[in-house]
Amino acid sequence: MPSIFSRKAIGDLLAEGESPSGLRRTLGVGDLVMLSIGAVIGAGIFSTLGTAAAGEVNAAGQVVRYGAGPALILSFVLLGVVCGFAALCYAELAAMIPQAGSAYAYSYATLGEIIAWIIGWDLILEYAVGNVAVAIAWAGYFNSLVSPWFTIPPWLTHGYWNAKALAAGGDAAMQSLLTTAPHVAGIPILVNLPAFLIVMAITWLLVIGVKESTRANNIMVGVKLLVLAVFIVVGAIHIDPANYRPFAPNGWRGIHQGAAIVFFAFIGFDAISTAAEETRNPQRNMPRGIMLGLGICTLIYVVVGAVATGLVPYMQLKSSDPLARALQVAGFPAAGWFVSAGAVVSMAAVLLVFQYGQPRIFFAMARDGLLPSWAAKIHPKYRTPHVTTIITGVLVALGALLADDAATYDLTNIGTLSAFALVCVGVLVLRYADPARPRPFRVPFVWPVTILGAVLCLYTMYGLPTSAWIRFGIWLVIGLVFYFLYGYRNSTLRRGTAPVPAAPPPPIEKK
Ligand code: ALA
Repeated sequence: MPSIFSRKAIGDLLAEGESPSGLRRTLGVGDLVMLSIGAVIGAGIFSTLGTAAAGEVNAAGQVVRYGAGPALILSFVLLGVVCGFAALCYAELAAMIPQAGSAYAYSYATLGEIIAWIIGWDLILEYAVGNVAVAIAWAGYFNSLVSPWFTIPPWLTHGYWNAKALAAGGDAAMQSLLTTAPHVAGIPILVNLPAFLIVMAITWLLVIGVKESTRANNIMVGVKLLVLAVFIVVGAIHIDPANYRPFAPNGWRGIHQGAAIVFFAFIGFDAISTAAEETRNPQRNMPRGIMLGLGICTLIYVVVGAVATGLVPYMQLKSSDPLARALQVAGFPAAGWFVSAGAVVSMAAVLLVFQYGQPRIFFAMARDGLLPSWAAKIHPKYRTPHVTTIITGVLVALGALLADDAATYDLTNIGTLSAFALVCVGVLVLRYADPARPRPFRVPFVWPVTILGAVLCLYTMYGLPTSAWIRFGIWLVIGLVFYFLYGYRNSTLRRGTAPVPAAPPPPIEKK
């Protein structure tokens, strides 16, 4: 019987990708870049930027993380390099194995089943837990957007753990909210209702078959670029050079720890590799799409970071809606409101992409028998993977209702970075395990790039607080228990059975 380190033959992966039940190949390089911007620009730049610049302290006045200050732009440059190495590795694998399932599928062929399972399990952090954070950030901007007309009661805009974390950090309003909120059986009722509702609305759209159409995505990408352009232009005209001093108030430690949280802003360039089965000439287009998308987003982030920290003193960015706040503080409330409106649209687009992507990964895992085959069931009328879409939706919505955003950003980042590190190692392993396989795109200088890529991912993880490592450890243990109770016994590879012929989710629609 094959071991838990058994590797899937790449030929089988390619055959699955080309099977008649497979997905249609319609996407070109331009579509991939637009999909990339659609998935990447969201809560990271609109929300985590504030914590990355200003840092975080707890109730006892101890520093949880140091902020980068105006040197935030160096955090972005560092992350551009880290993600650039990882992106090269993703590009080699995505071109070689153009199959839905992303890093999960690649690692099955390179590092074996148990590592593939761990990566698939990490990707749940990237997609589902990441969406909890995006939903909370969405709600923050939504609340400030509607605030000129009505105020939602605070006990309906802060999840229990979010309020507790803020109160512990010394937030007086949250400390009093914990006592003034309605109580049931002695427990304060604190829920983030807008965050819950947006996730349920998106889940409903996905169940009835709203596809991640390229046209809708292109419109939303246009909105993102427009609001960021407005922010840059209005902000750049009013930069006060005094705000750049001191440039790096916490030295390299601040730049590093700032990078570890604002890494969230880069997540998603890899998500387009899940569309490899739907890409025309993926061997050429996938690497170009991934690298171009990452390059454009990094450039935008550096400019936005420079403008935000030049517009107001960096400590003023300490807010869940720092870009809108910066414009308000600088005396441009109308522009701030416009940015809030754009952020609400942008983050809804990110929610849609990830809420759409998670069932695809579940699909790939169910096809291999690591999850039950019902996980890839298709709705008879709507032709959507409704079971996993609803399960993902309910879990993400419940998380958004109660969770603390900082904790979910950290958990998402640590999980995603560990998946990136394993992908880097996978490229090197495969160069030796299967040297003859055609590689339409090859990582240049494979030894230094893959090793440096993995090391830099670990180094970025190292900038996250201890609490993130503890939660990540618990998550991995739960995943391993699940694997040995289910996947270990039911894996089609280990049982020597054919992959479950589950119907694929509907393709990304090219209009
Ligand atoms: N990079 C995505 C965002 O910032 C996940 O929302």
